[in-house]
Amino acid sequence: MISCGSTPEESDDHSVKKVFQETKNMSNWIEIAKVDQIPVGQGKEFTINGRIVALFNVAGEFQAIDGICAHAGGPLGEGVLSGCIVTCPWHGWQYDVHSGAMCLNDQIRQESFPVKIEDNAVLVEMP
Ligand code: FES
Repeated sequence: MISCGSTPEESDDHSVKKVFQETKNMSNWIEIAKVDQIPVGQGKEFTINGRIVALFNVAGEFQAIDGICAHAGGPLGEGVLSGCIVTCPWHGWQYDVHSGAMCLNDQIRQESFPVKIEDNAVLVEMP
């Protein structure tokens, strides 16, 4: 039984411990860069768990989207960032890096990933 002030880890109830451990393991935050590696207005490509992720610094706020362009696989992390819009370097498709939506057709959408900063590190939550 868990009482106020105790944690499931301190509990004798093994089922509560198991649920607590599973909940802790559900998030998958991965450090991919230091804040100063991505200057304001720029992006960079990273490989995380076998996936290409494009990370952008939009006025000091970091955004992460699937880095492989939906058109023909271009490297979005190498695209030019203007405000919150990245232009694919191969054929010019443009995406809003906040939502991952293509600018001309928001039915086409790059997957986006939550980002947080901890101790000067940029962490991305992968599914
Ligand atoms: S591959 Fe990105 S626009 Fe063609």
